[in-house]
Amino acid sequence: MIVIDQENNVFTLHTQNTTYQMKADQHRVLLHTYYGARIGGGDLSYLIRRADRGFSPNPNEVGDNRDYSLDTLPQEYSTCGVGDFRLSSIEFEPEDGSRLADLRYVGYELRPGKYALEGLPAFFGGTEWETLVVFLEDSAAGMSVELFYGVLEDCDLITRAVRVVNKGDGTVRLRRCASLCLDFQRDDLDFITFDGCHTLERNRNRSPLRPGVQSIESVRGTSSHHHNPFVILCDHQANEDYGLCYGAMLVYSGNFQAAAERTQLENNRLLIGVNPYHFCFDLAPGESFTAPEAALVCSPAGFGPMSRQYHRAIRNHLIRDPYQGRRRPVLINNWEATEFSFDASKLVDIAASAAPLGIELFVMDDGWFGARDTDRSGLGDWTVNQKKIPGGLESLVPKIKELGMSFGLWIEPEMVSENSDLFRAHPDWALGEPHRPQTRGRCQLVLDFSRKEVRDHIYTAIKTILDSADITYVKWDMNRSLSDVWSAALPAHRQGEVFHRYVLGVYDVLERLHQDYPDLLIEGCSGGGGRFDAGMLYYTPQIWCSDNTDAIDRLRIQYGTSFCYPVSSMGAHVSAVPNGQTGRRVSMETRGVVAMSGTFGYEMDLNQCTQEERETIRRQTAFFKEHYDLIQQGDYYRLTDPFTDSLTAWAQVSADRREALISLVSGTVHAAAPFRALRLKGLDSARSYQINGEGSFPGDVLMEAGYPLPLFWDDYSCMQLYLQAL
Ligand code: GLA
Repeated sequence: MIVIDQENNVFTLHTQNTTYQMKADQHRVLLHTYYGARIGGGDLSYLIRRADRGFSPNPNEVGDNRDYSLDTLPQEYSTCGVGDFRLSSIEFEPEDGSRLADLRYVGYELRPGKYALEGLPAFFGGTEWETLVVFLEDSAAGMSVELFYGVLEDCDLITRAVRVVNKGDGTVRLRRCASLCLDFQRDDLDFITFDGCHTLERNRNRSPLRPGVQSIESVRGTSSHHHNPFVILCDHQANEDYGLCYGAMLVYSGNFQAAAERTQLENNRLLIGVNPYHFCFDLAPGESFTAPEAALVCSPAGFGPMSRQYHRAIRNHLIRDPYQGRRRPVLINNWEATEFSFDASKLVDIAASAAPLGIELFVMDDGWFGARDTDRSGLGDWTVNQKKIPGGLESLVPKIKELGMSFGLWIEPEMVSENSDLFRAHPDWALGEPHRPQTRGRCQLVLDFSRKEVRDHIYTAIKTILDSADITYVKWDMNRSLSDVWSAALPAHRQGEVFHRYVLGVYDVLERLHQDYPDLLIEGCSGGGGRFDAGMLYYTPQIWCSDNTDAIDRLRIQYGTSFCYPVSSMGAHVSAVPNGQTGRRVSMETRGVVAMSGTFGYEMDLNQCTQEERETIRRQTAFFKEHYDLIQQGDYYRLTDPFTDSLTAWAQVSADRREALISLVSGTVHAAAPFRALRLKGLDSARSYQINGEGSFPGDVLMEAGYPLPLFWDDYSCMQLYLQAL
């Protein structure tokens, strides 16, 4: 609900459990007055304390009033160079070379429904949303700044986006345009980020904010394995079930920055948006720039409710039809089994071993096209390699379908190998400045997706493949960071646009795919989880979580990912042991329990399995399908923290609390292990539950006293408890 007090220019956004407020004051400065647990409202600007602070200057119009300084007031969208020395939300440079932005309130508009952003992913929905647009202006530069707010009450979600329009008569160079600025009038906050590297993504890191700026960012052209564009600010004491916490997520897949500043007054400012690194956009008169969407969830009761609200919002308002509610198939992918060495009969063999075990989709991974026998060649030549697959997909796909499975394939459209017909024909289509040899990553170069003719060519090639057979799934991969970022199609003064235009180009091709093949299931991937972000989820309802398929490492990766992203978005497969990344041997049972808290599939040659393992797989796929809705749509509870606890446990609970699935994986075992009870969460305290079809356990006892765990008798053992209300 959006409440506007026109007389006092106060804008209050209420969600079910939270309230957000801003106010344009007597100088038309837009102040941020409150964000936190839901409260009644009213004009909360009295919460803002004012006092003269040395070296915090005063706007011209306040005369001798030294209490009024942009440097000390909480700003809704911070300005630049006119007295606020904290992080600037926006920086632009008109033709006179000044770098000043003094934004003042000029009006607002209330719109039903949710705003959309042209060419960019964004949360969507109908009448359950309301939109507020607040207009600010820097009259000297002729720049108009539109702040968009989307309010989705039942998910406690507030989205923000920004559009900048050059209304003056000269060109203005935009150098920074954050999507979100959030000022807190308190200093006692922790900053939580999700960081890592290839094969070890989204480790949770937490530290108290200290004076100065703490930030994470990506300059790799993708959101990256290294830092996720999702951060949390929270009370020092906040945990899963307690404490005020704020999640901030950027719906964007390129260079980003999330920066938290603890200021001289020990207040905090959070900024999140496109990274200003190597970024500038020249806006001619009348031109505009739209910054990607940021999405906030505030939870007054810890991380658990915050995550569940993000999960709900992503499942229902970011992932699009038809895959929003549609079941995704259990798949088998040949990559870890064969890498590049396969032919059609090997693929059919793998599929044939999987079909009787309940696996529904066969995915042919890298190596099926062009001269792709190693990772040194072939990218860009999207035609079937007839030596490996005689007769092409027209011959292979029917064989897979005869087994009762559907068919999918891997592509890496943004890349080109120097050893490819495409590169030989169009060397300038790769990013790179012509006077320098390009840096290679995984032996490949990056196509300049900022160029329409490049995108058109690749799209036509993909379309030809998709039209050649019954293909229901595509894994869209992206296997290197961007370097040598220079486009042959843009003049010198516009090279700062390339990073962002590249991302818009990727979105453009993905959107075309979505429009032309609405039933196609696309799984995002970037060397695993290098582009696991909300921007991609708008186009690819699931994303390969990590190239690390070791079940034990996956516990932490999936735990970190779950803070923001739902189970239904996390690509997770059972692979062979010893594991290819760690050498670890973990039972088929444990590998299955971990992978089925994701989109679930297998990535191995099941012909190599023992009869017993095959029986286990059959049971796993049947169990997963039986409990699909609970696992994929249920409320997710983290029951332990795998970074501090050797036991990892989590739960999915149905919305009506009549069903729950608890999954546990133990760590390494020790003699004389202590007895332990696991306290469950999210159950109905007034009901009793059967566990795995037996007994009667009161919900309140399970939550308050816990469920007594057996002593685990081997490293990395697992358990699943299925609870059904009596
Ligand atoms: C990336 C992906 C893998 C696999 C290979 C193929 O690393 O993350 O799953 O598809 O590429 O080259």
